[in-house]
Amino acid sequence: MRKPVIAGNWKLYKTKDEALALIEELAPLVTGVDNVEIVVAPVFTVLPALPAALAGTGINLAAQDVFWEEEGAYTGEVSPRMLLDAGASHVIIGHSERRQYFGETDTTVNKKIKAALKGALVPIFCIGETLEEREAGNTFKVLERQVKGGLEGLTETQFAAVIIAYEPVWAIGTGKVATDDQAQEAHAFIRGVVAQLLGKNAADKVRILYGGSVKPENVKGLMSRPDIDGALVGGASLKGASFASIVRFGE
Ligand code: G3H
Repeated sequence: MRKPVIAGNWKLYKTKDEALALIEELAPLVTGVDNVEIVVAPVFTVLPALPAALAGTGINLAAQDVFWEEEGAYTGEVSPRMLLDAGASHVIIGHSERRQYFGETDTTVNKKIKAALKGALVPIFCIGETLEEREAGNTFKVLERQVKGGLEGLTETQFAAVIIAYEPVWAIGTGKVATDDQAQEAHAFIRGVVAQLLGKNAADKVRILYGGSVKPENVKGLMSRPDIDGALVGGASLKGASFASIVRFGE
């Protein structure tokens, strides 16, 4: 059995006080939910303010990016050790916005996943095709390249901690969610690529999250599909009530 993961990516929103207010609203609404791994990902500067507020809530803390070196002359970067020090247990890697605006490639994503694992962080490894790639019939080709590139050189044991997030770029922040069938088809394909790379056991165990306009109204349908193990939520994670409803699969 794969434990579902519902992760909120707050992107470039929420100052420290706003984040604390959101946690205060969210925490009571998810009390007692123990069948779901709940994660929130604020900006770097907010990370150290959250562990005290999250204590006892069961909500895990993620960063939105990480650098692969432990320390050194790398102005502006943050290492796995520093994220752990700030209280994070998870880290989002390779989000399409990082790929699109900040030059992230399969190679840098691979280095970051390895560094995160070495630093005892759980990587949430993001992949997904653009609208152009989908319309050109290249969805599977792109996903296969991203999965193989991101996971290159990982052993089955190392991979065991990885969570994958499939986020079709055309569904992010657009209100245009992938249909349950489109998402299921992509997830099954991704699981197949993992099986090829690391074996059936690894593929059966890996949690694959869907991301892109997930809302309380559409989460139940997505979660009912066999290869969809959770969600990476952007906009709808910025309000306690909507994120809590997604954590409860729309109930
Ligand atoms: O990381 C989250 C995704 O980019 C989805 O964002 O739920 O606002 O579409 P969204």
